[in-house]
Amino acid sequence: MKKPETIAAQALGWIEEKTRAVSPPLHVSSTFERDADNQYRSGRNYARADNPAFDQPEQVLAALEQGEAAMLFASGMAAATAVFLSLKPGDHVVAPKVMYWSLRNWLMNFARGWGLDVELVDTSDPAALKAAMRPGKTRLVWVETPANPLWDIVDIAAAAEIAHAAGARLAVDSTVATPVFTQPLALGADLVMHSATKYLNGHSDLVAGALVTKAIDESWQRMSDVRKQVGAILGSFESWLLLRGMRTLFPRVRAAAASAQTLAEALQRNENVASVLYPGLPGFKGHAIAARQMKGGFGAMMSIRVKGGEKAAIAAAARVQVFKRATSLGGVESLVEHRASVEGPDTPCPADLLRLSVGIEDAGDLLADLEQALRQGR
Ligand SMILES: Cc1ncc(COP(=O)(O)O)c(C=O)c1O
Repeated sequence: MKKPETIAAQALGWIEEKTRAVSPPLHVSSTFERDADNQYRSGRNYARADNPAFDQPEQVLAALEQGEAAMLFASGMAAATAVFLSLKPGDHVVAPKVMYWSLRNWLMNFARGWGLDVELVDTSDPAALKAAMRPGKTRLVWVETPANPLWDIVDIAAAAEIAHAAGARLAVDSTVATPVFTQPLALGADLVMHSATKYLNGHSDLVAGALVTKAIDESWQRMSDVRKQVGAILGSFESWLLLRGMRTLFPRVRAAAASAQTLAEALQRNENVASVLYPGLPGFKGHAIAARQMKGGFGAMMSIRVKGGEKAAIAAAARVQVFKRATSLGGVESLVEHRASVEGPDTPCPADLLRLSVGIEDAGDLLADLEQALRQGR
């Protein structure tokens, strides 16, 4: 097996057979010809079921995550909700208190109404997770690590052991960790989810999602049925763009994470910053677990709590010149967001918090930008 850097850069080394093209053709056909004897020997009939445009990005991602198979979806939310919709009404599922806000909303408002027994716990605390398990009834434990927007760290190996002991499966939203730093399946998880909109693509120019499974089993088949029957599929062009983005995953993500570490250390000393939330800082609550489970870096997402409260935080965000004020994360350009404004009244996100997605610009430019914005923001 080649190293992941090689797998990503060469997209598994594929060459298109007919033309010897190094970059794959863009497949756009919605339908595929049936053989004269009424068979479908190509294995394909209609692009809602599957699409040749998915093959390469799915196989590259499966290889990077050390999974048996991967599936692309129309968005990260489409991928995540397919996991829950593959369960049955009445099933008990455990999810984190601190997690991506829209998915938490969907679980509270849609999935509960649909019949799932959703319980939110502090999944960064193994004792709390263990206490929430109902053996034989809990079907799924969903975790996110590092988790939006406080970057709580979940010990994946411990969570897998707890879930499996109760007969449940463990799914990990690994969007922020990326396959560069963490392989949840190797640590015991059953399923990995990505908002491919973020680091996998990396250029803020498409919306996509993905699931990767440890084993092709009945549960995976149900998720595949959800994708096909609901039609939560990625477009051909987006699949092609995603593959192109994944080729540079390793250098992009490593550069961004190195800058994030530099920024976190410097911002910790900034007189206008009350605290820095970043798993790479030794004083951060989840640091020891992150240091064990994240290989070679701590990701490029962090939050800062601004002295002076909500007004000062929003004022600082208003003054950035290099960072862009925008939601989302994982692109080559750095973004800043006053997260509580997005998440609304029920959020666990403090009002003085700015979320930073660190890109691949010069780290000195990024730090100088934040320093001037914080200085004048008070
Ligand atoms: C950690 C995480 N999971 C899931 C999602 C949802 O992904 P998408 O916006 O592609 O639907 C996001 C999007 O912000 C995210 O940050």
